[in-house]
Amino acid sequence: MRAAVYTAAGTPADVLSVTDIDEPHAGPGQVRVAVRAAGVNPIDWKIVRGLTGKSPAAPTVPGIDAAGIVDEVGEGVTGARVGDAVFGQATGGSAAQFAVLTAWATKPDAVPFDVAGALGVVGETAVRVLDLLGLPSGATVVVDGASGGVGIATVQVALARGLTVIGTAGEGNQDFVRSLGALPTPHGPGLADRVRALAPGGVDGGVDTAGRGSVRDLVELTGDPAKVVTIADFGAAELGVQVTGGGSGQAERLARIAELLADGRLEMPIAGTFPLERIGAAYAESEAGHVRGKLVLVP
Ligand SMILES: NC(=O)c1ccc[n+]([C@@H]2O[C@H](COP(=O)([O-])OP(=O)(O)OC[C@H]3O[C@@H](n4cnc5c(N)ncnc54)[C@H](OP(=O)(O)O)[C@@H]3O)[C@@H](O)[C@H]2O)c1
Repeated sequence: MRAAVYTAAGTPADVLSVTDIDEPHAGPGQVRVAVRAAGVNPIDWKIVRGLTGKSPAAPTVPGIDAAGIVDEVGEGVTGARVGDAVFGQATGGSAAQFAVLTAWATKPDAVPFDVAGALGVVGETAVRVLDLLGLPSGATVVVDGASGGVGIATVQVALARGLTVIGTAGEGNQDFVRSLGALPTPHGPGLADRVRALAPGGVDGGVDTAGRGSVRDLVELTGDPAKVVTIADFGAAELGVQVTGGGSGQAERLARIAELLADGRLEMPIAGTFPLERIGAAYAESEAGHVRGKLVLVP
């Protein structure tokens, strides 16, 4: 199959190339898809750069997000058949013609492959962080980084749960965050004061998707570190903040994303679509840190 691969950690544009490699196959509990779209996430270029400490022992396909058509069903899998359109999270890479998924949900018919293929990581993460907070309908949550992939999904999942959402973004993304249904405010220094002005009744929970130092403000606003979750500030655990990086239950959370997609309560703007050959450019754009929505690779 055609796939983007790298054999040494480094700058994505330098170390990634498209070549023919052996196809992967679905193991027990897995499905293989013919990939129609593969979303780009910051973790992809972090891994290619070697920032997570992993160094490839053999040509390695990057990427986790994928949507496509099931063409192999592994032993023990129930509820998925050859020909189904699904989206989810891959093991062994997704920037390729075929990918093996370890967690997936059925793609609603009306949802394009690029949108579904961009939600495997950010959609699952959004449900995960809000489950960890466990806020009741009517509560108020602050989402730092509301204009990014995880933030956009988190805002919409929170609104669907009946929460009031205050979302931070850069100056150019204030109207965009408002269009999602959140109260926008700029990110960065002074956050706690700006949020207090927007939420005179107080803040019940905080989600840090950006890892840019907002957790102290979020703890101050909520009055309790246990009411703050971060996905990107791994030093924040020492404050008592909840730090989450994955765990189990991805398929259940993806099923909830599929429901929201089917109901029209979750949308994800596609900020750019790239052929596999331009994976280095896609990763560079993600790395610049201000994509409004998701970038998607099409094999
Ligand atoms: N632990 C996990 O399970 C998990 C899962 C998924 C992602 N992550 C990590 O979470 C992070 C975000 O992922 P993503 O996919 O949402 O990235 P993304 O799409 O690149 O979004 C980045 C966001 O950060 C915002 N931002 C930039 N500078 C900021 C600042 N100084 N303060 C606050 N926000 C700022 C951007 O806003 P503007 O563009 O409006 O400035 C944008 O909303 C990445 O580090 C990723 O690796 C972790």
